[in-house]
Amino acid sequence: MEVFLRNSFVVVALVVVFLRHRVDSEPTQDKLALLAFLAQTPHENRLQWNSSNSACTWVGIQCDSNLSFVYSLRLPGVGLVGQIPANTIGNLTQLRILSLRANRLSGSIPSDFSNLKLLRSLYLQNNLFSGEFPPSIPQLDRLTRLDISSNNFTGSIPFAVNNLTHLTRLYLQNNGFSGSLPSISQSSIVDFNVSNNHLNGSIPTSLSRFQASSFAGNIDLCGVPLPPCNPFFPSPAPSPPSIPPPNPPRKTAKKLSKAAIIAISVGAALILLLLILILILCLRRGQRRRQAAKTQKPTAAARSGAGAAGAAAGDPGTSSSMEVTGVSGEAERNKLLFFDGGIYSFDLEDLLRASAEVLGKGSVGTSYKAVLEEGTTVVVKRLKDVVVTRKEFETQMELVGRIKHDNVLPLRAYYYSKDEKLLVSDYMSAGSRGSGRTPLDWDNRMRIALSTGRGLAHLHVSGKVIHGNIKASNILLRQDHDACVSDFGLNPLFGSTTPPNRVAGYRAPEVVETRKVTFKSDVYSFGVLLLELLTGKSPNQASLGEEGIDLPRWVQSVVREEWTAEVFDVELMRYQNIEEEMVQLLQIAMACVSTVPDQRPSMPEVVRMMEEINRGETDDGLRQSSDEPSKGSGDNA
Ligand SMILES: *[C@@H]1O[C@H](CO)[C@@H](O)[C@H](O)[C@H]1NC(C)=O
Ligand SMILES: *[C@@H]1O[C@H](CO)[C@@H](O)[C@H](O)[C@H]1NC(C)=O
Ligand SMILES: *[C@@H]1O[C@H](CO)[C@@H](O)[C@H](O)[C@H]1NC(C)=O
Ligand SMILES: *[C@@H]1O[C@H](CO)[C@@H](O)[C@H](O)[C@H]1NC(C)=O
Ligand SMILES: *[C@@H]1O[C@H](CO)[C@@H](O)[C@H](O)[C@H]1NC(C)=O
Ligand SMILES: *[C@@H]1O[C@H](CO)[C@@H](O)[C@H](O)[C@H]1NC(C)=O
Ligand SMILES: *[C@@H]1O[C@H](CO)[C@@H](O)[C@H](O)[C@H]1NC(C)=O
Repeated sequence: MEVFLRNSFVVVALVVVFLRHRVDSEPTQDKLALLAFLAQTPHENRLQWNSSNSACTWVGIQCDSNLSFVYSLRLPGVGLVGQIPANTIGNLTQLRILSLRANRLSGSIPSDFSNLKLLRSLYLQNNLFSGEFPPSIPQLDRLTRLDISSNNFTGSIPFAVNNLTHLTRLYLQNNGFSGSLPSISQSSIVDFNVSNNHLNGSIPTSLSRFQASSFAGNIDLCGVPLPPCNPFFPSPAPSPPSIPPPNPPRKTAKKLSKAAIIAISVGAALILLLLILILILCLRRGQRRRQAAKTQKPTAAARSGAGAAGAAAGDPGTSSSMEVTGVSGEAERNKLLFFDGGIYSFDLEDLLRASAEVLGKGSVGTSYKAVLEEGTTVVVKRLKDVVVTRKEFETQMELVGRIKHDNVLPLRAYYYSKDEKLLVSDYMSAGSRGSGRTPLDWDNRMRIALSTGRGLAHLHVSGKVIHGNIKASNILLRQDHDACVSDFGLNPLFGSTTPPNRVAGYRAPEVVETRKVTFKSDVYSFGVLLLELLTGKSPNQASLGEEGIDLPRWVQSVVREEWTAEVFDVELMRYQNIEEEMVQLLQIAMACVSTVPDQRPSMPEVVRMMEEINRGETDDGLRQSSDEPSKGSGDNA
């Protein structure tokens, strides 16, 4: 521990040098505005900005890559007191992130905040601001995160917050807002909180999807998810004519004409009849197929068909939780297709008979561990929301199925029918590095980093495949502690409408906007994975301190604001002489998570840099590339 602390100067120096290379130009206008702000706002002594240095080197400031403007200003908890002066922060017109949380700032927000047109995150919580909801805020139409909670704002919440069409977070709790809640209709909002204000009236239906604790502490607020409003004294939320007032569902039912009711009844009867017919047909067909299956048990050969697949669909004999539907029709065409060189010999019927256990519900579908009757264990992934045609599906599967590398989990087989899309791969008993495991030592973390990097580099270079969904749960550990990547190359199956990569913390900023994954966005996600290994924190987790900040920005802010090496996982402090390696890996990670895609290295470059990390004496375990092929499921079943 002491050794580590003594060396932390070196660590910090290295990190700082890394983060601040290319300090040659600076944003002059922004610098003047910042100096004016600090000069007029009392603050703690430890916040010192040296005017003879570039503003981009100051604590709490981040510039763009060209050092031509201030990109983010973060001064949380530095004892700022009083009103924000006009013509200071409002002059930073290129600002994207502003955090002044946890200070003692008061008064109203200056009206020139309306100049911060590009602002995306505004954190002003835990201050003493007062007055009406700042009129300048609804004009910042790029805002995605707004937190003005725990202040002393009063008056009503304006309907104009609907102007903020990109909003994902709206935190207004612990203020003195009164009146009724406007109909805030952005579906983009994920985090919403207006608790502990003085709001009254009914909760608009557009907001009733949030949980009760988002509204608690407002004595006179009522309606879903809170208790219903008193029907004799209705208190509808005022909303402009363009948005119809929320109607309770019972009212709409009453308005239905008699004709409509008759039509609905007839329709329901018809549907019931149809269902019964289908059921009878299915039962008959199932019987026929079961008989067929008994007569011709399929031979054990690769690429075996699933001629008798339908039988299993209605088979009550297993405790399978993988109830695959719609397998009965077109059985001949809908075979379980194995890739060449496969090691398995089972067919779809066997698979459906296997006892299945849910391994996890991922962003692209549910994974099952299926133990076949003969003892083989495989992982079956049941994809949901696939939009491509059979042809496109097969083309992508052929591309993905060709990839062979020690650090890539091979796809063994796939199945496509109208209703079901299944992927079959090996089962790794060691599992993924999800949360809640025992902490890994440093050597194992380096090993995971390097082997994952090699797997990805192979995907990119030899396979020409974008992984598209790199995250900890898609990195599986083999028995020998090398890692391999799974779930790659699936994005093309989901079209551009649904982003299958729904784990936000790993997504590159440009992917959040364009929803298009690239080789460079894979590099970003890999960088986040490295940061996870280094910090022991999962991306986007609440414990990062500031809400809404992602892991890369958290690391940057800690390194900049706290001036210590406290980004690293405390678990790693136990090991000696690894600081330099940690800092080198941190530098690689930070290069990977650069916000500008072109500034990120390619995966082969990343691997080369990791291989060049000076690993001292403990070299051998890491450098040796594992020669054994990845283990088949037969071994670890
Ligand atoms: C802020 O901008 C205004 C208008 O452009 C300018 O007059 C003022 O001097 C600027 N303030 C500072 C501190 O640079
Ligand atoms: C400001 O920075 C300059 C050059 O880096 C240095 O010479 C000077 O001592 C610094 N001033 C203070 C108050 O730290
Ligand atoms: C950086 O500056 C160059 C020219 O000086 C310009 O072409 C480029 O677009 C700038 N990049 C960014 C990210 O602003
Ligand atoms: C809504 O945003 C536009 C700019 O996008 C702005 O001109 C307008 O004033 C805003 N409305 C309110 C009520 O702030
Ligand atoms: C909040 O505002 C109210 C009225 O504007 C005032 O009485 C109260 O003292 C303020 N509270 C704080 C903590 O400033
Ligand atoms: C809600 O509170 C405001 C004052 O804050 C009051 O004028 C209004 O009548 C109240 N509405 C209801 C339905 O209680
Ligand atoms: C809303 O804020 C209150 C007070 O800070 C908190 O207790 C509650 O858990 C929050 N609810 C949600 C859903 O964030």
